[in-house]
Amino acid sequence: MKLLVIGAAGRTGKHVLAQGIERGHEITAFARRPDSLPDLPGLTGVHQGDAHDLDTVRTAVQGQDAVIAAVGGSRIASNLITAMRERGVSRLVMTSSRSVPATRPRLAVALAWLFFREAYVDLARAEGMLQVSGLGWSIARATMLNDKPPSGRVHVDFEANATGGAMQLSRADYAMALLDTVENADLIGKALGICGPR
Ligand SMILES: NC(=O)c1ccc[n+]([C@@H]2O[C@H](COP(=O)([O-])OP(=O)(O)OC[C@H]3O[C@@H](n4cnc5c(N)ncnc54)[C@H](OP(=O)(O)O)[C@@H]3O)[C@@H](O)[C@H]2O)c1
Repeated sequence: MKLLVIGAAGRTGKHVLAQGIERGHEITAFARRPDSLPDLPGLTGVHQGDAHDLDTVRTAVQGQDAVIAAVGGSRIASNLITAMRERGVSRLVMTSSRSVPATRPRLAVALAWLFFREAYVDLARAEGMLQVSGLGWSIARATMLNDKPPSGRVHVDFEANATGGAMQLSRADYAMALLDTVENADLIGKALGICGPR
């Protein structure tokens, strides 16, 4: 699959690049600071730019089969939706947060919203845009991310509140879940809650 990764130089994005290449995809990295990308011999291409800039996003999505946004946000979502519609690219997996729809556990959710309200409101807006975009979207709502080694497993559900799994999830495992999602057409039109394995 020809796969564009937005936020490629981020802590999750770097895992998506490495694992995506390992899976045999043709990976193009999109990053504001490509100098901070790891040296990955199998990388197909690099786009330097800000995903808030529509023209740069237009150029980057051209000719891709799918996009993974390893960073979420309404401006990024809006530009991707516009550019992907124009360029006939349908499949989009976008990062969001488990806290966006969650109501439980009450204290943890309340504290998370206290500190990250602005980000969650914006992610909720981005989710809404995707859901009416007409694209082949999936939303990946991550729980708390860390940089522990991968376990090779995640707990996935389709509920507002987690149905099990650990509250902590390694970025390497989250990257695996993002790739599993983009490869799975059955997950089009679905919002996945992604937790750590139990
Ligand atoms: N941390 C958590 O516990 C948690 C939980 C749930 C969801 N999430 C979400 O998961 C995503 C990935 O998390 P992470 O910890 O891997 O993030 P991260 O290390 O901060 O990486 C995010 C990457 O996105 C890039 N980026 C941001 N805005 C951009 C833009 N407008 N155009 C192009 N690139 C842009 C950043 O670029 P620069 O390197 O130039 O800054 C950075 O490389 C985040 O969106 C976060 O909101 C995180």
